[in-house]
Amino acid sequence: MSIRAARRTAGIRYANREVVQLAEEAQRRGRKLLNLNIGDPNIFGFRTPECIQEAMIRAIRENHNGYSHSSGLAEARAAIRRQAESRGLRKVQEVLVTNGGSEAIDMALSALVNSGDNVLLPAPGYPLYAALLSRLEAETRRYRLDESNNWQPDIEHMAEQIDGRTRAIVLINPNNPTGCVYSRETIEAVIDLCRGHKLVLISDEIYDRILFNGHEHVPSASLADDVCIVTINGLSKNYIAPGLRCGWSITSGPAGLCEDYLQGMRKLSRVRLSAGHPQQHAIAPALLGAQEHLPPLCDILSRRARFCAERLNAIEGVQCVEPQGAFYAFPSLQIAGRDEDFVRELILETGVIVVQGSGFGLQGQPSYFRIVTLPGDEVLAEAFDRIEDFLGSWRRRHPFTEEAAAPAL
Ligand SMILES: Cc1ncc(COP(=O)(O)O)c(C=O)c1O
Repeated sequence: MSIRAARRTAGIRYANREVVQLAEEAQRRGRKLLNLNIGDPNIFGFRTPECIQEAMIRAIRENHNGYSHSSGLAEARAAIRRQAESRGLRKVQEVLVTNGGSEAIDMALSALVNSGDNVLLPAPGYPLYAALLSRLEAETRRYRLDESNNWQPDIEHMAEQIDGRTRAIVLINPNNPTGCVYSRETIEAVIDLCRGHKLVLISDEIYDRILFNGHEHVPSASLADDVCIVTINGLSKNYIAPGLRCGWSITSGPAGLCEDYLQGMRKLSRVRLSAGHPQQHAIAPALLGAQEHLPPLCDILSRRARFCAERLNAIEGVQCVEPQGAFYAFPSLQIAGRDEDFVRELILETGVIVVQGSGFGLQGQPSYFRIVTLPGDEVLAEAFDRIEDFLGSWRRRHPFTEEAAAPAL
């Protein structure tokens, strides 16, 4: 008899990585794989800025390979605070450096929720949050992002989800998987809800420098100093270094309101000793440096985002809101059948790897899938050709009926 995994792992899903098994199967069948599933800029040829590489190598050579302070290296935390305050974040109480943004999210949730509490997550939204809540035996409640309004959060729907066990609202801005950047009014409305219901706002801003066509990012914590806001960020996306596992949380708001919660987060940071140390030496040079990598990065990605949206919208029955930032697009599909079956067959038959919308918390109709917009133009063009052909064959095998078109949420 095999050893039983704990019950708390049973509800954990992470579709982004689960499709990899299907990709391996497609490869065994001789398909040429086109990876449109991984939000990792480095595997698509984008390079970590030199100043980060050099600072990290220097730190290793200088033997900064022991543990750091549990909260993070003093210079790194000072640089994060300085950048945060220069972007208008108000009443910053604490900066904690973590092993990627992922660990910052883990600490922010683990220090907050008890079993049976609930947290509001976007639908669609990055799946780590729901996986962690499942592990914490807490409930995920989904609020709708409105496709017809450029994927902005539906504030009324959000308000309807709140009850006495709600502890936090998660905003992902710019959003993964839609690429939407939220308006100041939207963020203010979310802050009002947090203020009124004494909720923590967890504001995941890990793509906040990857913006297109004049879209501006408004940091949530720049709009209020009377609400506890945990801002998540890191080097992974804006600084093209996800493998360095270097992230942080910035907790802001009134000292008294945040203090107990912060003590919980600090305890969690102490028991895991420290975040990876040499890479923390790259934080100050990265944040305080010239940011020269950003204009060309945003330029290429905005052109690719437009190309993806235009090409997808040219396929019959597919609609795609043009992303305003980050490196994803999230088209909808008029198809019969479950999105995960569609994606499974798409991968096995064509080798194009995408992630189904249900992996981001959107069930039912219409169906969605997420692509990453990081690959070069030729790969994207080839992928869309294969998707278009496959869609035709799927429709012939699974005719679409009108009753299948009921909305998901
Ligand atoms: C919205 C969002 N938050 C957090 C993360 C995790 O970031 P990290 O690689 O720094 O752990 C990701 C990674 O894709 C993400 O998309």
